[in-house]
Amino acid sequence: MTVSMVETRAAFIDQFGRSKRKLRISVTDRCNFKCVYCMPEHPEWMKKHQILSFEALFQFCQFMVQNGIEYIRITGGEPLMRQGVVHFVAELQKLKKIGLKQISMTSNGHYLKKYAQDLKRAGLDSINVSLDSLDAIQFFQLTQKQLAPVLEGIQAALAVGLPLKINSVLIQGQNHEQIIPLVQWAKDLAIPLRFIEFMPLDGDRHWNAEHVVSEQQILDTLASKFNVQAIQEQSRSPARQYWVDGHQIGIISTITHAFCGECDRLRLTAQGEFYNCLFATQGQALKTEIEQLQTKQNASLLKQKLESYIWNKKAGFHAIQAQQTYRKISMHMIGG
Ligand code: GTP
Ligand code: 5AD
Ligand code: SF4
Repeated sequence: MTVSMVETRAAFIDQFGRSKRKLRISVTDRCNFKCVYCMPEHPEWMKKHQILSFEALFQFCQFMVQNGIEYIRITGGEPLMRQGVVHFVAELQKLKKIGLKQISMTSNGHYLKKYAQDLKRAGLDSINVSLDSLDAIQFFQLTQKQLAPVLEGIQAALAVGLPLKINSVLIQGQNHEQIIPLVQWAKDLAIPLRFIEFMPLDGDRHWNAEHVVSEQQILDTLASKFNVQAIQEQSRSPARQYWVDGHQIGIISTITHAFCGECDRLRLTAQGEFYNCLFATQGQALKTEIEQLQTKQNASLLKQKLESYIWNKKAGFHAIQAQQTYRKISMHMIGG
């Protein structure tokens, strides 16, 4: 296939003209962390038989790349908790011949020391690691896990040359005072860092607008210590970018500056529920369809189903919040 043919592949499109180029695949809902902004106190884990096999996931990824997807991000729960995920990354490389540009992962970093080398060898293009505090006690309060393995995982990724970004969710009254230490640390290690506004997707629904540290508050804190300049060019990343004393810092501000107008993302949970938006109140249960994708006829039926569901994607976060519809699925199932 020639490059120009790859570039003109038609993509799924929604009613607002936003074409879909990014797919996030959650390979497990399980996680060894219990982040306060994510996990419910008593998670009901998906059963093994409910989860799509890597073979089925590969078929689905292939089908989605044939339908315009260029970026695949593997998420969880914690993706490194699922046996075989490194091999899955290696298998996905085959899709680069038909138009896949990048394979990335979002991880809590706990097992990264063990897997960094293997992931690099398997061709993973980049990894985003969550790190919400550099204070070990506070880190434990936020995640119920130790900080040290995560820092070691980050070092291991750097050592093998795996491109890495840090995600820090800020919660007012908990880790808001980590803004300056985290920036200083990221600057010293020359690692891109993104601060994330706390979103109402925590498992036990404790979210409250007062817990959000807004982009403006983050900028004000940064300006008290550093020289801060906005970077005008906004790629299709959710983060707004700033130079902070010459180091690039992003802010993902869904609450105060939602970026939904450009949204090019789709999501699949480990049990085959497809979501046209992180906040979608209704997904599509597609496990059986995905498992039966081998024939042209089934592929064509699935395509029709997805076209219609994706077309009906809502305008975005604020439009969906206004409906105040309850959804049982939380962040650890949909993968961020
Ligand atoms: P990049 O491709 O590196 O920009 O990855 P990413 O930032 O999209 O992915 P990551 O998994 O690191 O997510 C970082 C934060 O962005 C998390 O809090 C996600 O929940 C959030 N995020 C990712 N995609 C979306 C989205 O479509 N909408 C909203 N509102 N937030 C998103
Ligand atoms: N609000 C914002 N970001 C969240 N994440 C998990 N839960 C939330 C939330 N409620 C982030 C994690 C991880 C990514 C997958 O999503 O920190 O980096
Ligand atoms: Fe696990 Fe990530 Fe959720 Fe934390 S945010 S509990 S690391 S899935």
